[in-house]
Formats: sequence, C-alpha cells, structure tokens
Amino acid sequence: MTQATAIIVGASSLLSREIAKQLADQGVELALLAQDPDSLQEFADSLPTQVHLFPLQIVETQAIISTLEEVWQQLGGAHLVLVNTGLNSYDPQLPWGPEQDIITVNVQGFAAVCNTAFRLFREQGYGQLAAVNSIAGLRGGPSVAYHASKAFATNYLEGLSMHAQRLKLPITITDIQLGLLDKAAMQQSRLWLSPPDEVARQIIKAMQGAKRKVYVTKRWRLVAWLTKLLPEFVYNTRHWRTKAERLAAKAEGKK
Ligand SMILES: NC(=O)c1ccc[n+]([C@@H]2O[C@H](COP(=O)([O-])OP(=O)(O)OC[C@H]3O[C@@H](n4cnc5c(N)ncnc54)[C@H](OP(=O)(O)O)[C@@H]3O)[C@@H](O)[C@H]2O)c1
Repeated sequence: MTQATAIIVGASSLLSREIAKQLADQGVELALLAQDPDSLQEFADSLPTQVHLFPLQIVETQAIISTLEEVWQQLGGAHLVLVNTGLNSYDPQLPWGPEQDIITVNVQGFAAVCNTAFRLFREQGYGQLAAVNSIAGLRGGPSVAYHASKAFATNYLEGLSMHAQRLKLPITITDIQLGLLDKAAMQQSRLWLSPPDEVARQIIKAMQGAKRKVYVTKRWRLVAWLTKLLPEFVYNTRHWRTKAERLAAKAEGKK
C-alpha cells in the first residue's frame, strides 16, 4: 500500500464532502460510506483520485462491521478512518423514540465503527482513527441524549488511545471537537461560524499533525474552557436564541 488511503464513514454531509475533496486533491484514494451511496456517484466522479462507494447501515451493527471489513479488503488496508456520523434532535417533552435513535447511531453505531477500525488497524500494525465529535459532550445539555452520546464518544476515543499506547502500536486516535456550528448558524454569528472549507482544512491539518484532540475551529477552545468552568446555575441559563426571539420572550415576560 503506497498511496495514502482513507475511509470516510458518513460521507454524505457537506463537511465530509469538503474533507473528501481536499484529501482527493492531495492524491488520497477514498472509500466513502453513506446511507445512499448512489447519491454520491456524481460527486465521486468529480474527484481527481480513485473513489469507492459503499452503503452505511450504522444502526445494524453486524452490517456495518461486515461493510468495513469488505472495504478494508478491497482497499488492501487503509491509513485513515474518519468517522463523521451523528444524529441530533431537540424536543422539550423528551419523548423516548428520538432519544433511542440518537443512542443507537451516536453510541452503539459509533462504538461498532471505532471498535472495528481499531481491530483492523491493530492487525495492520498502524493507522489513524479520527472522529468528528462535538464540544456538546463537555456537559449535559437540552438535547439530553446527544450531549451524553458525545461524552461517550470522547471517553471511547480516549480508551482506544490508551489501548494503542499499551499495545505499543503506532495507531493515532484523533478526537475532533467541533464547535456548535448549527447553533452559530442559527444565531447567524459570523464570529463563530466558519466556512466548511476552512473547517475541513483545520480538521485535515490536525489529522496530519497526528493530534490527539483538537478544537475546530480553534476559537471554540475558549467556549470549551468556559463551558467546563461555569457553575450549573449559570451554565443552565444560556439560551441559543436569536436576538429577536430573546426580545419577544422578554416582552412576554419569559426568562
Ligand atoms: N453540525 C454541527 O453544528 C455540529 C457541531 C458539532 C459537532 N458536530 C458533529 O459532526 C458530526 C457530523 O454532524 P453533521 O452536522 O455534519 O451531521 P449531518 O450533516 O446530519 O451528517 C451526519 C452523518 O451521519 C449519518 N447518519 C445519521 N444517521 C444515520 C443512520 N441512521 N444511518 C447511517 N448514517 C446516518 C448521515 O448519513 P446520511 O446523510 O446518509 O443520512 C451523515 O453522513 C456529528 O458527530 C456531529 O455530532 C456537528
């Protein structure tokens, strides 16, 4: 295996496609896993390197494990597995259904992918597992299962990293702590919202620098630091509402 190869799990999102594009521009051969791989065909054809498309059934543990093994065989191994899957939703009534779906995708599916990638890297003797995670995992939050699932991801990745060190294997585990980009978009905050190509550039730089943990974009490190510092009664008063919504709520006499 001379040419660099990368597997992107959850390749249909805008961010994944931007990362795939930038890696392909560097000559990296790609395997892209998406729920509907056919929808990526045109995109794959537009890239300058060899691209293989595979289905992603993250809710069926055995199916995703078999797919990863098949991808591995077809590529003859891989240098990088990047996991960029995730499910999020918010309903103040906290119905169980969406909570269960989030746990299935973000905890069970995530662990199955990372566990399999780690095993394949261990057999290969080297490699890098990177995951797009979220600073939401630093504390609990309104999307209860989502925040908790991101804490699970952080600890799972740390455990794998410790395991690689104990095995004395050159397997790098990179935890990409993404800022709350959706929230920034909702707030139309230009200060915190970075264009996808810049987010992808910082992620690739961190992976190539073999970082263990990185905040993307860099300025979210400050929010992460503050988030950890705030006492719960202050942390719990933060509201991600637009100025107009805040003013309307104030007029109605709500907090
Ligand atoms: N967006 C943000 O503001 C933000 C902020 C911080 C962290 N993050 C993290 O970034 C990662 C990606 O998030 P995103 O916002 O880019 O999400 P996204 O655009 O919705 O992409 C999520 C990916 O997960 C896949 N996925 C979701 N449910 C699935 C299922 N049941 N089966 C198979 N695949 C499934 C999607 O595949 P399909 O498209 O094929 O359904 C998609 O590729 C997540 O880990 C998220 O926590 C995002």
